Amino acid sequence: MRSRLLLALAAAALVGIGGVIGIAAKGSSKTKVRTVAAATPSSTAAVDPHVAAGAHDFIQFACAQCHGERGRGGVSPVVPSLATIGKQLAPAELRSIIDHGLGESANPTQPYMPVWGAVISKTQVNDLIAYMRAGLPAVPTAEPVPIPQNQGDAVEGAALYLRYGCGNCHGFNGIGGVPNPQSPDKTIPPLSGAVFRHEFNTDAKIIAVIRSGSVIGRAPIVSMPHWGGIIPAPQLRALAAYLKTLK
Ligand code: HEC
Ligand code: HEC
Repeated sequence: MRSRLLLALAAAALVGIGGVIGIAAKGSSKTKVRTVAAATPSSTAAVDPHVAAGAHDFIQFACAQCHGERGRGGVSPVVPSLATIGKQLAPAELRSIIDHGLGESANPTQPYMPVWGAVISKTQVNDLIAYMRAGLPAVPTAEPVPIPQNQGDAVEGAALYLRYGCGNCHGFNGIGGVPNPQSPDKTIPPLSGAVFRHEFNTDAKIIAVIRSGSVIGRAPIVSMPHWGGIIPAPQLRALAAYLKTLK
């Protein structure tokens, strides 16, 4: 009984090996991966997975909202273009800027490079660096979420919450709980719940804090970025309207 089972397993293994050899033999190149890539039509040519992941991270963490589409600038005079930064700075310098931020965090009237260290992984930073060193190429579907028009402020605000990467720090649905170990309360605050509602009981208060951020931003503390000069007034109103729909 047992030996027959073993034989059956051995046969299955042989079939498995035969299958792999069969696949490899069909392609012209030696590895299975190459065979798959060669089979893709040129219109969807394979992108280096790290560069592709970096392009998507660039959207997810709202880098594009301050530095422009594919880092080409043009959003605000105080936010530099990143088009050639991958050639100017070493990977270690780029990592340090992303983790610890850069610029004037005490001046609420202008944006600074936010501190991302506590909310971004090493892998994500590696991928962002690969993307910048590759010259921030166009990567299909690495695009900010579209903003619905004429469907009311709350609908627009929900999309803006994604587009500006608020959820990376405040959580999906504004639930909070994202760790911020060096800050006094050890966590990034929620944008929902009774305590938030009580403190931020008018649109004006919500808009003021989104625009001017917090000034505790000393690396490695994650602080609220300054969005003044980046997010236009109608979008600030839409964000406030969305936050009021949360639990
Ligand atoms: C809220 C706006 C904002 C966001 C979001 C933002 N940045 Fe920045 N970034 C800035 C500003 C402002 C500076 C310039 C700081 C200075 O030199 O005073 C900067 C500087 C930089 C620099 C250094 C550029 C140079 O020429 O020295 C790099 C690299 C960079 N950012 C990458 C990123 C990446 C990657 C992301 C996404 C993870 C990102 N930034 C998100 C505002 C932003
Ligand atoms: C890099 C992380 C980060 C991002 C991105 C971010 N925030 Fe914040 N935000 C914070 C931190 C940290 C605080 C708490 C600041 C403090 O205590 O001084 C905060 C505070 C706030 C507050 C005040 C809440 C309170 O209890 O103090 C509001 C409202 C807010 N953020 C809205 C937003 C919105 C809307 C977005 C997207 C446009 C956003 N934030 C993006 C980190 C972030």
